Amino acid sequence: MRHKPIKNKLFSENRKRLTTLLAPKSLAVINANDLLPVNADATLVMHPNSDLFFLSGIEQEESILLIFPDAAEEKNREILFLREPNEHLKIWEGYKHTKEDARKISGIKNVQWLSEFPVTFRSLMLESDAAYLNSNEYKRANVEMETRDVRFIRQCQQDYPLHDFRRLAPLLHQLRVTKTDLELELLKEAIDITTKGFNRMLRFVKPGVTEYEVEAELAKEYIKRRGKFAYPPIIAAGKNNCVLHYWQNDQPCKKGQLLLMDAASGYANYNADLTRTIPVSGRFSRRQKKVYNAVLRVLRASIAGATAGKLHRDWQKESQVHMNEELLKLGLLKPSQVKKQDPENPACRKYYMHGLGHPLGLDVHDVGDMNVPFAPGTVLTVEPGIYIPDEGFGVRLEDDIVVTENGPVNLMKKIPIEADEIESIMNR
Ligand code: GLY
Ligand code: MN
Ligand code: MN
Repeated sequence: MRHKPIKNKLFSENRKRLTTLLAPKSLAVINANDLLPVNADATLVMHPNSDLFFLSGIEQEESILLIFPDAAEEKNREILFLREPNEHLKIWEGYKHTKEDARKISGIKNVQWLSEFPVTFRSLMLESDAAYLNSNEYKRANVEMETRDVRFIRQCQQDYPLHDFRRLAPLLHQLRVTKTDLELELLKEAIDITTKGFNRMLRFVKPGVTEYEVEAELAKEYIKRRGKFAYPPIIAAGKNNCVLHYWQNDQPCKKGQLLLMDAASGYANYNADLTRTIPVSGRFSRRQKKVYNAVLRVLRASIAGATAGKLHRDWQKESQVHMNEELLKLGLLKPSQVKKQDPENPACRKYYMHGLGHPLGLDVHDVGDMNVPFAPGTVLTVEPGIYIPDEGFGVRLEDDIVVTENGPVNLMKKIPIEADEIESIMNR
């Protein structure tokens, strides 16, 4: 692993939190992600399963975690099953966890090889009243491909037709949305790496550089600090500012354009999510600055508005009311348009068509029930934008915050954002 060793208290604490949510005499099983195939014999790089990592710190393929708090024998209350290392694996893939390493990483004493899973699992299933199985219940998930967890569910339903199966995902969503202090430490490391990358871009960007050169410079900053892109970076110059999921990053940055960079690093599977929009030549035009400052005001008000107890949808509505006012001042909306707007589709959506933010953590669009009010420990992105294709530019600004009892804390307050500050650094 590129990241430094993590205190296994992070994972044992999470297992303890989960235990309090499980029904009596029930067990839970979490599977690793598949190595996803592409063409010929190629696969994508392994992407650890967030839930498995959250509960064990294990990132290795094919691993299985079993939790059974009421198991009769104490040794069966937490078991980790791993691929058994062998000479062939050692030659072709190198390091695989030993039992001792896995114990240290996870804090789980009982580590077994995968070959032992069927027998152990059968005996524990016969001892349990219910089994919590996992699946991807993210609202907008594209579930065309069957995961290891789903194949496991089908197998279990076939092998144990009279058992009571339950959904593990809602419990994990409930836990993962609020971050523990140990999780916040890793998230802050991701933000620190992201900050260094952005600061370097303020000195690197000038007319003539290409979007892919910016991407390459960011990759270098992140990777040399043990990070990696948290998501495919959006490095969008000029009219590409307005393409919300732009990914081509193949155009030159020209004088007079803005460069929108939605790019951030992950660290130890925890993700930052940052957007800044900067002038390619180091100076905003008057119009660009007016739009920029309008977005900045909505960002700041929305950060202040992310208080414990508020519902996501109410928070977002407040930002839309504010954005309507800003768009009126910019002459982009007419008062009549606001007056006769459909409350479900407010007038500002013409220029600000995406959500205000999302939970952030082990996944960039992290899990969490949007119908539950913000609780202390909730980490959110705040990312208003104004996109004006007719004027050939758009602005988005995105910070990451944590909700606390004493109000929201901006985890990105050290990253330059004032237009004047950005200009002055770029012209230094
Ligand atoms: N970078 C993805 C997002 O901002 O949601
Ligand atoms: Mn983003
Ligand atoms: Mn985001």
